[in-house]
Amino acid sequence: MHKDIDRVLIDEDIILKRLDHIAEKIRADFEGKPLVAIVLLKGAMVFTADLLRRLPIHLEIECLNVASYKGTSSTGIVSFLDKKLPDVANKNVLIIDDILDTGRTLEAVAEKLSDNGASMIKTCVLLTKDIPREDFKEANYSGFDIANEFVVGYGLDYNGRYRNLPFIGVLKQSVYQD
Ligand code: XMP
Repeated sequence: MHKDIDRVLIDEDIILKRLDHIAEKIRADFEGKPLVAIVLLKGAMVFTADLLRRLPIHLEIECLNVASYKGTSSTGIVSFLDKKLPDVANKNVLIIDDILDTGRTLEAVAEKLSDNGASMIKTCVLLTKDIPREDFKEANYSGFDIANEFVVGYGLDYNGRYRNLPFIGVLKQSVYQD
């Protein structure tokens, strides 16, 4: 355990077992259909690395740098930080993010890729927060439902830190107050 972590929410071995299950569902849905995975940086990089190595299908991997969070809350504005977006015209796309919170990020990215001609768009997240969402209700593939609290680890950060922790955990309050 890390000194700043109040409690572990999901252990690494539980995460990895769940990835076997998600990968099997994606494989069954996309067997024989070329797929482009769009990885939302930086939060989804750890999740994606473990998930996609479990997927023996025809796959291209592209990354998209987006940001909407500051500290522990959403700014409500999704910024696209890359100058150029991946070419998705007439392609099947799987957008992969770490967590579905307000849903604004996945909605904005899906809209942008749809405008750029993607022929099919599916979404995949490791975590889904239990909050009411108006427009973007749920991802097509999701690992775990969690309560509405700020989590870190396994790619998720607080001000750039804790992405390297191998589990999903809740930070001690004192870390926010510092
Ligand atoms: P929305 O609200 O657009 O949020 O669904 C998705 C993005 O917000 C970040 N996010 C979090 N990051 N712990 C984090 O480290 C959290 O509890 C959390 N909730 C949302 C994340 O970057 C995600 O892509």
